Amino acid sequence: MSAPRRNVELKALDPDPVRSLAVCRELGAEDHGVLHQRDTYFRARRGRLKLRVEEPGGAVLIQYDRPDAAEVRESCYRLAPVPDPETLRASLDASLGTLVVVDKERHLLLWDGVRIHLDTVAGLGSFVELEGVAPPESDLSAEREKVAHLQDALGIGEILTDSYSDRLLGTDALTAAAREAMERAHAPYSHFKVGAALRADDGSLHAGANVENAAYPQGQCAEASAIGVLVAAGRTRVLEAAVIADGPDVCVPCGGCRQRLREFMPLDGLVHLCSAAGERRTVTLEELLPMSFGPEFLP
Ligand code: THU
Repeated sequence: MSAPRRNVELKALDPDPVRSLAVCRELGAEDHGVLHQRDTYFRARRGRLKLRVEEPGGAVLIQYDRPDAAEVRESCYRLAPVPDPETLRASLDASLGTLVVVDKERHLLLWDGVRIHLDTVAGLGSFVELEGVAPPESDLSAEREKVAHLQDALGIGEILTDSYSDRLLGTDALTAAAREAMERAHAPYSHFKVGAALRADDGSLHAGANVENAAYPQGQCAEASAIGVLVAAGRTRVLEAAVIADGPDVCVPCGGCRQRLREFMPLDGLVHLCSAAGERRTVTLEELLPMSFGPEFLP
């Protein structure tokens, strides 16, 4: 049996993966190519448990524990090689249940013992991860120093506290709230039911539906309803939004609602465009509303 291993790691959004790759190359990082990884997370009683199937490569069961802190942090984990991943996945799914599946393309580079992951995660976007793997006797200071050096070179600002699985689960919960609101929409004239949900900076969810009126111009979009709920709950900062319509296509917010979101959301905030059939496309607010006017323009 192997003892738990340790590393020092951080994760951040990567607004410019092409630049990040160029920086890694300039630093002389070894390029280990692009891997496709599918991580299935199970409902563990303690910590986290996931089965990783990697191509090229093999499968490994990963057990780990990690504090959710917005800083470079220490992670403790065990790896067990898996010769028959499909049977193990089915067994763990049957006994524990599956929490979420995370699919990603990982460009792996290695710099002075630090693993650099340039990740593109399905449904979430691009991220950079740094992992300074520590030998057993290390006090982690050398690993911290190397990670800090790379963090600086890559221009990494805000460090993320949540894992990809948390993000996907968060997004699923947000989408579910939007869908629930959509089902209650009052749309007897257009028959186009829309739901919107907003995740505020404290993690709370606020949802609303479109509300039409026999005097047509008095109707209100779902986003406007959700914003009303948000503000009434005492929140004014939105980190993430989801919009869904009861049709075959993903729902895009109308021009007016893009501006409404702009009032409360940062331009790099994610907006999930969803369809009733379960399709989801994720864009930033800036992609929806380029060159926009916002509160910071006013004195
Ligand atoms: N609608 C929304 O609720 N949000 C949007 O961003 C697009 C349009 C609603 C308004 C109206 O009740 C119906 O869809 C048809 O326009």
